[in-house]
Amino acid sequence: MAELRRPENMQRITTPELAEAFIDEQIAALREQIGDRKVLLALSGGVDSSVVAALLIKAVGQQLTCVHVNHGLLRKGEPEQVIEVFRNQMNANLIYVDAVDRFLDKLAGVSDPETKRKIIGNEFIEVFAEEARKLDGISLLAQGTIWPDILESEAGIKAHHNAGGLPADLNFELVEPVRILFKDEVRVVGKELGLPDGMVFRQPFPGPGLGVRCVGAITRDRLEAVRESDAILREEFAKNGLEGKVWQYFTIVPDFRTTGIHDGQRSYDWPVVIRAVNTRDAMSATVEDVPFTLLQHITDRITHEVKGVNRVLFDLTPKPTGTIEWE
Ligand code: XMP
Repeated sequence: MAELRRPENMQRITTPELAEAFIDEQIAALREQIGDRKVLLALSGGVDSSVVAALLIKAVGQQLTCVHVNHGLLRKGEPEQVIEVFRNQMNANLIYVDAVDRFLDKLAGVSDPETKRKIIGNEFIEVFAEEARKLDGISLLAQGTIWPDILESEAGIKAHHNAGGLPADLNFELVEPVRILFKDEVRVVGKELGLPDGMVFRQPFPGPGLGVRCVGAITRDRLEAVRESDAILREEFAKNGLEGKVWQYFTIVPDFRTTGIHDGQRSYDWPVVIRAVNTRDAMSATVEDVPFTLLQHITDRITHEVKGVNRVLFDLTPKPTGTIEWE
């Protein structure tokens, strides 16, 4: 199974019928591979891991244990959505780990972006490994590896991020049910599996999450400003037909303050930066031409609803020279 390759002549999955056929095939294959054994899955709530979870729930139900680690850097409402969809609606065996303090304590005072990434990645593996060791009799690890991951790691572009890094005592056999799919196919399959659109068609979100948008050393109050302003931006983009049209859009809160006025009083608060870009492959990107009146409305909401913010800026920089994320 681990060596499975995408057949050269495989038809692109673009319709519900093709998705249904893939789902039926995978369920049979999963049942055969898994038998009566137990499977573990790190469920972030992203497209790939969510589709893997939904497939496994269909195939083996309670033999699957999902672990959702909340590292405190998720977007507003995300942990709640994972619990609602998988535990409440799909009746999955879901372990929710509130690791917010652990991550934020480790990150306190750390301003270098790559060090922040490393801390978040390492801590994630540690938390997940701890949960895995608490569980008895699990021999399989499911992963949301997709076909581009395999191609990119073969081409030496990026290390295949999955499985890498788990401690040696956790010696799992891998289960990779979406391994031969491209991202767009994973979405079609996810929709057919009944996952909500907000989960299946969501914009890319980096592993280190809001951590790389809370520029410099992360503080809890500034992190909340990132989370709240991001939620307002997403809500307004959805209301105004930009969701699904713009490739990636989010807010950044830099670690400096500027003067302003709040309720007739001098304020000394953070700016929020809005970034909205379009791209095909994230190697280069152009800036979305967001209507000015909408930007004014979003500015009004952010400056009045988000604590500690008195100014909103729009990032006009294409990639290159700017990367999409600020860190
Ligand atoms: P940049 O900032 O390099 O981003 O122009 C390109 C795309 O990659 C995402 N990104 C990341 N994804 N871990 C991830 O999983 C990361 O550390 C990371 N950094 C950037 C970014 O959101 C954009 O879609």
